[in-house]
Amino acid sequence: MARFDGDHVASTALAVAAGRAVEASRRDALAVDPYAGPLVAASRSPLDLPLRWPDDPAVAPAMQQPLLLASLYIGLRTRFIDDVLSEANPTTQTVILGAGLDTRAFRLPWPTDHRVFELDHPDVLVFKSRVLSGLDAHPTCELSSVGADLSQPWAASLSGADFDVHQPTTWVVEGLLPYLSAQAQQDTLNTIAELSASGSRAVIERAAALPDTEELVAKLRAFSAQTGLAMSDLLARANPPDPAALLAAKGWLVWEHSVAQLCARYERRIALNDEQPSNPAATGQPDHSRGGFVTARL
Ligand SMILES: C[S@@+](CC[C@H](N)C(=O)[O-])C[C@H]1O[C@@H](n2cnc3c(N)ncnc32)[C@H](O)[C@@H]1O
Repeated sequence: MARFDGDHVASTALAVAAGRAVEASRRDALAVDPYAGPLVAASRSPLDLPLRWPDDPAVAPAMQQPLLLASLYIGLRTRFIDDVLSEANPTTQTVILGAGLDTRAFRLPWPTDHRVFELDHPDVLVFKSRVLSGLDAHPTCELSSVGADLSQPWAASLSGADFDVHQPTTWVVEGLLPYLSAQAQQDTLNTIAELSASGSRAVIERAAALPDTEELVAKLRAFSAQTGLAMSDLLARANPPDPAALLAAKGWLVWEHSVAQLCARYERRIALNDEQPSNPAATGQPDHSRGGFVTARL
């Protein structure tokens, strides 16, 4: 396979960054990540990732259309999590699991002594650090990049980076759980609970429980072929644990947020044109397409 500058970066991390770049270009942007476009460009990815919202999405290249549609969702989730992190009574440390090319450590107004720990595969974090250094971008917090395989026990990696288990923590789990087996999801959620002092909080994007049907696999194969994204990256795992139930059983207060609710709150339609609204907020139908979010406090 041809190598490119970001070939050690998960294609999903690049696709999400491209989604944030597209979102930033919209007149009604819900979130503006100034680093998303440069990160994707620096990867020299062979994938034809869109970086701007086109004048007419209907005539955008076929491969870009699902990514443009996804960018509407990515903008929504970026804004929602930004808003959760800006809520009052912040903790003094935040852990972002599967941080990928997320640049919140650089673009949000953290207290200068706030500690942010980003966990992902080492190559992803090294690539991000290199590109952002080249842009003369600086974290607005004390940032620790922690290379870790989150499908394996990872608590020791975090402790080794001077994470303080006695301090309340804010946990961010965005776009990660679908890439972990159901068991690894369970282990990750249990580890979050074990490492959380009183006062901790979490925002978690759920992995949707996907029916194990031939139709679904065929759809994912078509999306994989259309976008070049690896099938293994796209395939969510059956029967994932429910973060809300798991944390509630451990004494956390939990709130559930469906994508339909967020679409209504942020006045966002997840559709490429006016004629075919595809988000449940617009259709009034229940939302089975995405897992939605859980926020929680201990
Ligand atoms: C869809 S991306 C989302 C990245 C980021 N949270 C965002 O929203 O931009 C998924 C991320 O999870 C990371 N990831 C997936 N499986 C992982 C694993 N076993 N260990 C560490 N990171 C993993 C990938 O490297 C990638 O950066």
